Amino acid sequence: MRKSLVAGNWKMNGNKSSINSLMDGLVNGLNSNVEAMGSVDVLVCPPAVYLQQVADKVSTSSIKVGVQNVSEYESGAYTGELSLAMLADFNCDYVIVGHSERRSLFGETDAQVAEKCQAALEAGVIPVLCVGETLEQRDSGQALAVVEAQIDAVLKCCGIASFSKLVVAYEPVWAIGTGRTATPEQAQEVHGAIRAVLAAADAEVSASVRILYGGSVNAVNAAELFSQPDIDGGLVGGASLKVDDFLAICSAAAAA
Ligand code: 13P
Repeated sequence: MRKSLVAGNWKMNGNKSSINSLMDGLVNGLNSNVEAMGSVDVLVCPPAVYLQQVADKVSTSSIKVGVQNVSEYESGAYTGELSLAMLADFNCDYVIVGHSERRSLFGETDAQVAEKCQAALEAGVIPVLCVGETLEQRDSGQALAVVEAQIDAVLKCCGIASFSKLVVAYEPVWAIGTGRTATPEQAQEVHGAIRAVLAAADAEVSASVRILYGGSVNAVNAAELFSQPDIDGGLVGGASLKVDDFLAICSAAAAA
């Protein structure tokens, strides 16, 4: 049985004051409904400069904290980057790796994404490995091939056993921030294909890995998405910045 996970990717949003309110709302909302929420893991990924602030806020709750990116290198002359050793100072449990915005805007390659996964796993931080196709790729019938190649790059670099420790997030690029969600059937088709690729390497690992859906998840569409057999929760952008919406998504995952 896979436990659902709902992760909020705040991207480059928020400030001290808005983050205080958001975290107070989330902690109170989850703590006042502990029994129902026991069946879902909740993760927030703030901009890294607010890690300490968020870590302080979650100390009275079960919310986990992650970051949105990390360097594959240990230390040294990599201006602007953050290392896994630095994250260890902040009780950081997860790191989003290979988000489509990192791939498209900052040129991250499949190979680099795989190296980041490897480095995170070695440091004991759980990667949330993002995969997903562009609209052009979907329209030309390549969605499954693109996603399978992205998974394959990590399989080759890190091995199938690594998938028993990481989380996969399928985020079709055309659904991110567009309000255009994949239908539950479209999402399930890709989630099933990811699980099949992993099953070919190890059925047990494949059955245990959590595969999240991301791309315009909101309080209204979450329940139907999460009811699909291979969708184990969500990676949420815009709606994770709103207390009521994010809590409703967590409830939908808990009930799925
Ligand atoms: P939205 O939920 O805003 O579409 O963003 C999805 C996403 O990119 C989460 O990582």
